[in-house]
Amino acid sequence: MSRFAHPAGDRHAEVLPEERPPHAPADLNTLDPTIWPRTSGRADGSITIGGVDVRDLVAEHGTPLYVVDEEDFRSRCRDYAGAFSGGEVHYAGKAFLCREVARWIMQEGLGLDVCSAGELAVALSVGFPPERITMHGNNKSFAELERAVEAGVGHIVADSFEEIARLGFLADKYGRRPQVMIRVTVGVEAHTHEFIATAHDDQKFGFSLSSGAAAEAARRILALPQLELVGLHSHIGSQITDTAGFEVAAGRLAKLLVQIKDEHDVVLPELDLGGGYGIPYVDGDVALDVKEIADSLREIVSKVAGNAGLPVPKLTVEPGRGIAGLAGVTLYEVGTIKDVEGLRTYVSVDGGMSDNLRTALYGAEYTARLASRESAAEPMLSRMVGKHCESGDIVVRDLWLPGDLAPGDLVAVAGTGAYCRSLANNYNYLPKPAVVAVKDGASRVIVRRETEDDLLRGQL
Ligand code: LLP
Repeated sequence: MSRFAHPAGDRHAEVLPEERPPHAPADLNTLDPTIWPRTSGRADGSITIGGVDVRDLVAEHGTPLYVVDEEDFRSRCRDYAGAFSGGEVHYAGKAFLCREVARWIMQEGLGLDVCSAGELAVALSVGFPPERITMHGNNKSFAELERAVEAGVGHIVADSFEEIARLGFLADKYGRRPQVMIRVTVGVEAHTHEFIATAHDDQKFGFSLSSGAAAEAARRILALPQLELVGLHSHIGSQITDTAGFEVAAGRLAKLLVQIKDEHDVVLPELDLGGGYGIPYVDGDVALDVKEIADSLREIVSKVAGNAGLPVPKLTVEPGRGIAGLAGVTLYEVGTIKDVEGLRTYVSVDGGMSDNLRTALYGAEYTARLASRESAAEPMLSRMVGKHCESGDIVVRDLWLPGDLAPGDLVAVAGTGAYCRSLANNYNYLPKPAVVAVKDGASRVIVRRETEDDLLRGQL
């Protein structure tokens, strides 16, 4: 079969496994502005981000390379902060956290969510104000809780009865009164991949609302005067594009606020609705309107609180992907191109499931483009794969690339700013790529590429 699998070709039906990709785009050089970083474009054929040509980035920093558009990242911080003004926006560090990103979050005035002592250490190492940090986790160790209490983090989200008891002990030990929230499992079936849906009853996170565990958690915390119960927390899942789930969750949490008021005569001042705001990865995906979501969540919470005669609680949200996701692009060099007769063309790049696990783990979809030049060649139905010893090592399952693609070309994968570097691993002893921030025509390394020494460190 020819490498030029054209949508109108006679084997069309055989070679396209599903709807994706439905057809080759009219022009394989275009960069959809809803998917590519806000400052990206093409100059002299090559993709530029933050005013820097990707060929220069690669000449200086090598491949694979994570590129972060600083302006894109910061402007999305401002979008969320503006939309949720009057409330609080906490960036979920698990999406991508390093010292420089922690500084950006600090400078943009956002709060930060961490879910391990390691993430907390990154934040504290750059002087991130502890009172703007929230500590999460379904199984925080005693040491992690101790670090959080000792550092004076702003909020600790309690996730189990054991943790409530441990927090009581630690508050006494340090003579502090930590502000605590209850992670509530609201029983919403979020429309997303099973592994990243977190609010249906059958799973490890939080206290179930329907079983009464959440109300019991409130009783236990309120019984410990050394803990200050300030609110309820819910996170229904990630990469959610249907906002109905957030609205149901907000309504249910607000009802629990009312129940707590009725039972204890305590008015909790805060409601944290977590993160999960989906982003467009491929053509046809919707870009959520952050302002619209903010307005509708505020309206629901005000209505439920108003009906119960409660003051409207302060609303906090915790976007991770919504801030970091589209700011990041991964650059790879094409190594080999294999036309598997009668099937498809395999384009191998110099990274893979060690720098982007999401395709293998969740069946994630991505958009990729030839980055180092433009091409007017016929589209070629391709699968972009990595260099790992595993056939599931796929970066982009189905995509169209120009038929004149050649070894040495650079390709860019969009939307890799969230959960790629943070899920990166050293499978097959590949060093983790560098992360480079680009802005105003300049680039700088914010996380350096791992070396062979890094790979051997810690071994006898
Ligand atoms: N808040 C809490 C309590 C969370 O557990 C999470 C994500 C967030 C906020 C941020 O969610 P976001 O806005 O980024 O969707 N590795 C998966 C995503 C796991 C998300 C875990 N929790 C992926 O690559 O899709």
